Amino acid sequence: MYRYTGAVERTPRSEIRELLKVARSTNVISFGGGLPDKSLFPIEDLKQITADLLTNRGFLALQYGATEGDPDFIGAIVNHSKSFGETVAPENICVVSSSQQGIDLLTHILVEHDDVVIVEYPTYLGVIQAFQRAGANMIGVKMDNEGIMPDELEKAIASAPKKPKFIYIIPDFQNPTGINMSLERRKKIIEIGKKHDIPIVEDSPYREMNFTGKNLPSLWSLSGGTGIITFKTMSKMLFPGMRLGWVVAEKEVVQNMVKIKQSVDLCTSSFNQLIIAQYMNSGKLHDTINKAIELYKGKKELMVSELAKNMPEGVSWTNPDGGMFLWMTLPQGYSSKDLFMISAQKGAIFVTGNAFHCDGKGINTLRLNYSFPTHQQIKDGIKILGDSVKELLKK
Ligand SMILES: Cc1ncc(COP(=O)(O)O)c(C=O)c1O
Repeated sequence: MYRYTGAVERTPRSEIRELLKVARSTNVISFGGGLPDKSLFPIEDLKQITADLLTNRGFLALQYGATEGDPDFIGAIVNHSKSFGETVAPENICVVSSSQQGIDLLTHILVEHDDVVIVEYPTYLGVIQAFQRAGANMIGVKMDNEGIMPDELEKAIASAPKKPKFIYIIPDFQNPTGINMSLERRKKIIEIGKKHDIPIVEDSPYREMNFTGKNLPSLWSLSGGTGIITFKTMSKMLFPGMRLGWVVAEKEVVQNMVKIKQSVDLCTSSFNQLIIAQYMNSGKLHDTINKAIELYKGKKELMVSELAKNMPEGVSWTNPDGGMFLWMTLPQGYSSKDLFMISAQKGAIFVTGNAFHCDGKGINTLRLNYSFPTHQQIKDGIKILGDSVKELLKK
C-alpha cells in the first residue's frame, strides 16, 4: 500500500539510537551516546528566564519568527563567537533546529543523487546516515593525530569519479576519535579546498569543550569566511533538549539554506531562541562551559587511567584534549561487535566503530563517551570493559 521513497530504503537505522534503547531499558553503564552530564543543566536559571520571558515578551516568544533566526539570538551568537575569537556577521548566520538540521539542509542545497562527498574516516555517524539518505557517494579519507591527511585527501580528490561537492570535517575534538586538527593542518586543508575549488564543511559542536585553554582558530576564521560552511550547536556546550544550532556561511549559502528551511519547518522555535538568547546575554553560558570543561576533563583523565589499569596489551586508545569521546582500537582481527555482546551482558555498552566508517568497516574500533557516565560508572564500566576485552582476546 505504501510505496516508500528511495530515501527510506537508503537510510540505515542509527546504531546509537538502537543502543540507547538498550541503555534505557536496563541498568547497563552507557559509554554509548554523546550526552552531556545532566548536572550541568541550568534548570533554575531557565525557570526564571522563562517566567520573565512569558510575562514581558510572551507575544514574541509564542509567535512565528524569521526563518533566518530571531535577531536577539543571532546577536547573542555574534557575541558568543567574538568571545571565542571568531568574527561572524549576522548576515552569515542561519539559525537551525540544531546542527543535524544544518546537515540536512546542506544535503538539500548541495547533494544530488550519486554526487561525491568527502568525509573523514571515521566520521560522525549522523552524517553518514544523512549523506546516505541523500544518495551521496561518500569517500572516506584517513586521519592521523593531526586530523584528515592532506596526501590522502589529494589522492581521494584525484581518483573520485566526479568532482567532490564538499569536504566534511570535524576539526575540533572530532566525533568519534577526539582528535583536534592542528593549526598547520587546518591551513593545509583550506589550501587544498581552494586549489580544487571545493568547499569545506566544518562541523564544530565540541570546540568550546577545550581542556587546554588554547583555542585554535576555526577554518571559517582562517579562510577569511570564504569556501567554508560551519555548523554550531547548543547541544554539547549547554544541552540538546531545545534543539538549537546555527550555520555560519557566505551570504549566498545562507540564503539558499533559508529558502530550503522555509519548506522544512518555516522557522526554529522562537520561544527556545529567546530563552537561550537571554541566558547567553546574562553571561552564564561561559560559567556553564567552564564547569563542563572541568567536569569532562576530570572524567576523561579518570577514563584514561582506568583504561591503563584494566586493558590488556595490544589495545590502544586516544587521549583527547577536549570533547566528549575517546576512540579505542582492538588488535586486528577482533570485532567490537563481539566485544559488545560480552560487555553488554556484563553491564557496559559503547558504540561499535563500524558505525562511524562510511564503508561499514573498522570493526576492531569502538567509541567511548566520558561526559555522561558518573565517575563511579566510569570506574565500574571500564573494569567491565577490560574484563570483556580479556575474554574476547582469549577466544
Ligand atoms: C559532529 C556532530 N555533528 C552534529 C551533531 C548533531 O548534534 P545536534 O543536532 O544536537 O546539534 C553531533 C551530535 O553528536 C555531532 O557529534
